[in-house]
Formats: sequence, C-alpha cells, structure tokens
Amino acid sequence: MKLLILVLTLWVPTIYCQSDWWQTGQFYQIYPRSFKDSNGDGIGDLNGIREKLPHLKDIGITAAWLSPIYKSPMKDFGYDIADFKAIQPEYGTMADFEALLKRANELGIKLIMDLVPNHTSDLHEWFQKSVNRVKGYEDFYVWHDGYPDPKNSSNRLPPSNWLSTFRGSAWKWNTKRQQFYLHQYLAEQPDLNYRNPLVIEAMEDVLTFWLDKGVAGFRVDSVPTVFEVQADSKGKYPDEPKSGFTDDPENSAYLKHIYTQDQPETTELVYRTRAFLDEYQRKHGGDTRIILTEIYSPIDVIMQYYGNGTINGAHIPFNFNFITKVNKDSKAPDYAAIISLWMDNMPKQYTANWVIGNHDNRRVGSRYGPERIDAMNMLVMVLPGASVTYNGEEIGMLDVDISWNDTVDPAACNSNPQIYQQFTRDPARTPFQWDDSKNAGFSTANKTWLPIHPNYKQVNVKAEQAAARSHLKVYKDLVQLRKTSKTLQRGELKYKALNDNVLAVQRSLSGSNTILLLMNVSDKSQAVNVQQWSPTTPSSMKVRIASVQSKRNANETLKVSSIILDPYESLVLE
Ligand code: NOJ
Repeated sequence: MKLLILVLTLWVPTIYCQSDWWQTGQFYQIYPRSFKDSNGDGIGDLNGIREKLPHLKDIGITAAWLSPIYKSPMKDFGYDIADFKAIQPEYGTMADFEALLKRANELGIKLIMDLVPNHTSDLHEWFQKSVNRVKGYEDFYVWHDGYPDPKNSSNRLPPSNWLSTFRGSAWKWNTKRQQFYLHQYLAEQPDLNYRNPLVIEAMEDVLTFWLDKGVAGFRVDSVPTVFEVQADSKGKYPDEPKSGFTDDPENSAYLKHIYTQDQPETTELVYRTRAFLDEYQRKHGGDTRIILTEIYSPIDVIMQYYGNGTINGAHIPFNFNFITKVNKDSKAPDYAAIISLWMDNMPKQYTANWVIGNHDNRRVGSRYGPERIDAMNMLVMVLPGASVTYNGEEIGMLDVDISWNDTVDPAACNSNPQIYQQFTRDPARTPFQWDDSKNAGFSTANKTWLPIHPNYKQVNVKAEQAAARSHLKVYKDLVQLRKTSKTLQRGELKYKALNDNVLAVQRSLSGSNTILLLMNVSDKSQAVNVQQWSPTTPSSMKVRIASVQSKRNANETLKVSSIILDPYESLVLE
C-alpha cells in the first residue's frame, strides 16, 4: 500500500507537468539601456538589471530576454554589433554579465540573449577583413560591383532598387573595396552573406559561446531579412516591385519585399538552428534551450517558422498580430479575429504566444488607450501559451512625447522634423519608472539618455505596490493565476465577441475551475449574458481579478446570465 501511495504521488505531478518550461511561461523583455542605471551615467547597465531582479521575481517572470548588450558603436542602440562575444563597456563587463546570470538563475529566472544574425556593425572585425579581402572573409558580406552610370562615368549605380528599412537605398559604395555592400538596415549595419557556409559556422560558434555561459536561448532578430534571393547567372539581382502603400520612394514600404525577405533558405536556417540547440541540450543536458523569432510576416509564412510537420523550428515565433492589427478603434470582433488568426493556422502540436509590446512599437497604453492596459494584460495571460511583456507594461508606462532635438533613434533621425514621428521608436524606450525620486529612480545622472515620462510620480513600481488597485497588482494577480490554475495551463479555449464591445474568452478543463475573461473595450456600460453564448459556463462565478476601472471586489459572486460591465471594465472570473 505504501508503495502504491508513493508511486501515485510521484506519478500525479508528472501528468500535471506535461508542458515544458517555456510553454506556459511569462517572458519579459528588458531594454538594458533603460532598465536601471547603477553607475550614474544616465544609461542602464547590467549591474542595474541585477539589482532589479527581485522585481522580476516578484511579478513572476519565467524568462527575461535582453535586447543586445554586446560591444557596439550604438548606431542602432546595440543592434549593430561589433563583437558578439564582448559586452558593451557602458553596460558593464563579462564578469557583470556572469554575475547577472548567476543571480537570475538563483532566483529561478532564465536569461535569453538577443541574437542578431542578419548583420553586424561596420566596425566588426569580419567586415573590416571583408573590406580588405582578407582570405576567408572575402564573401562574408553581400558585395556587388554595381553598374556603370551612363550619365556620369565616375559614378556607379547600385545593383538593384532594394531599400533599407531605415530609408534610402540598401546598397552602399565602399571606396576601399570598390564595390557596393548590402545593408537592409543602416549603412553601418552591413548584411552578412548566409550563402557562405563560413558565416553560418561563425554564427553557430557565437551560439555555443553563450550557451556555454548558461543562457536559456535566443530571441532571433530580423529573421525575414537573413537571406536575399540568389543573383542570377550573370550576377544580377532582380528589382522589387512597388507596393502601392506609399509615394515616398525612400520609405522601405514603397516596395514589396519579395526578394529580400522570407526566402525559403531562411526557414531552413531556423530549422538548422533549432537542431543545433536540441543537439546542445542532448550533449550537455539541462532544460530546453529555446528560440524566439522576430518575424512580421503574413500568417502562412510565420507558421512555416514553427516547423514543417517533420522538422521543428522556432519554439516561439513571435505573434505580433495584436500589435499590428488592433488599435484604439478596434471592436471586440477584431480582437476575436486575431485570436482565430493564430489558433486556426497554428498546427496543433505547437504552442501559441501573444506579444503586445516591444522596443520597436508604441506602448500598450498609448496604442490601445490607457483604459485598456489591464484588459490587454488579462487577454495575453488568459489565452493559451506563452505571454510576452515588454518592460514597463506591467505598470502601464506610456509613450513619452520626444522632440526632434531629443530624438536619437536612427529610424527617425534618417527622416526629417516633419515626418519623424511616424518612424521614431524613442517614445517607448524611455527609462523605467521605479519610484517618485529623481529620474523615477532609474538614474542619479543629471541627464538620462532619453527623457523620463512626466507621469512618473504616479506611474511607478513603488506607488503601484502601495495603491489599493493598480496595473501592477492586476499583472501580478494574473501571473499568479496562470501559475496555479491547471485550467489556464492546459484548458480548452473558447472565445467570442458577445457584441461589438465585449470579448469573452473562456478556458475550461474537466476537474478544474473554469476561467472566464470578460473585456469591455468600449467607453459605454455593456449588459451581457454569457450563458446565451455558452450554456455550459457555470451559472455563477467569482471575481478573481478586476481591472483598475472596476468597482467590484475580489470574490464577489456574479450571475453570468446578466452582468453589467462598466466602461472599459475587464474581469477575470473563476
Ligand atoms: C529588429 C530590432 O527589434 C530593431 O530594434 C532593430 O533596429 C532591427 N531589428 C535591426 O536590427
């Protein structure tokens, strides 16, 4: 009998813990430059992140991904890497990184690095060697002679009409090598040539370096642009057709990127990287090392990055659809459509994920409106799979209005004072708001690298910890519920726009409590009858979590056949 009890106690948790660590994880993006400055230079750093790890622990983060911390001239704030194996001095040292990783792991938080495979900085040793045609490096980048200019014999024309994401031609003439090189981003970010196997090997060596340090995986930057179409037998690259989206020929949206993005070889490379990580785990043991991919592409293309049925690719191909397809004016059916878009296209064996913010997009409260901050956090935590939070969204930070003079983002600086607001990513990158002291507790410097939001006296971690209701408290309660509710980890999903303004999302699991999210996205009260939609939903449910607008208290019982939601009120019921 004793033996039977022992077997059962060991067996039950195994059934319960069916999913791997990342599948229901809370991922958190740290933008290192803006998280916490430990040495008073106005710029965040690694020791600052280490000091603030207890905050991540407190809000229940599973894994944090760090935007690039490698050595860089910072033309694109770290996405221009001069050495993949060194730390940017203003962020700290390798010893600081190791101390950060050790502390994070002690607290049960995994660290994920940002891998930028598409390009390096023009100051990277590989590029310098390639410019000088050093043996072995001649073809590390995409070089081309270009064509004679019939109008000016001392000038050469670029190989194709391809455009850089940051405006203007994607080709730049290099006087030393007397050839053009490709840069799908800044001219200071030359594209690596993935048709050269040596490049793939060099990048796998980078992976090994960080895996050996103990990181849990990689967020892979700009995946779609890694390969371009192969030049034809005469060495010619085809021009891309016009998209019709804009009349501005410098804007990268002017062209349809059929030759410079999402080439079949790119998907194959993601599968190869997955196999590389799986093999590393097989050899070295430990938890699964994962890949999160940054891809803003049509849904059928993104699904291929998951895998092809036999071979697996990215564990988490970021789902940016709430960012790109929902905004302040969206109605409940629009939200439902975004859920369907992912769930109906994702092969059943894969894991969903939901991203609502990052350093390249406007903040949640500025994009959907500050009234919908809790609703959005509730939505991504109640849906199945991994949730991804950009630092500051847990306290409802808002975009900062940044003048042209204070603008530092190259995407905006490459434009002009009239149109820079369309392109700038600075507003969502401002320093984290910790408390109501100088610089929101981010830094003791007289000037921080980007300005602090003027609302920091109200919107900060300390104030929100003390308040009776706050975005932070809603966020923490959501994570707690996700961690403890079997229904949220494994339950069936059902959702519907009950009318134009109310979205209902239900998770249910036999033998476990049903969880229901009701989200009023409008500024009007809404009466809803959940049972009309779902007769099997329990007739009365308790409030588990209520948005800051709500007047309801936790544990209040509601009859789901007649609930009146206040303007923007969102409730998680159990
Ligand atoms: C995507 C990154 O998220 C963005 O910040 C960067 O500018 C580009 N890739 C280029 O690396």
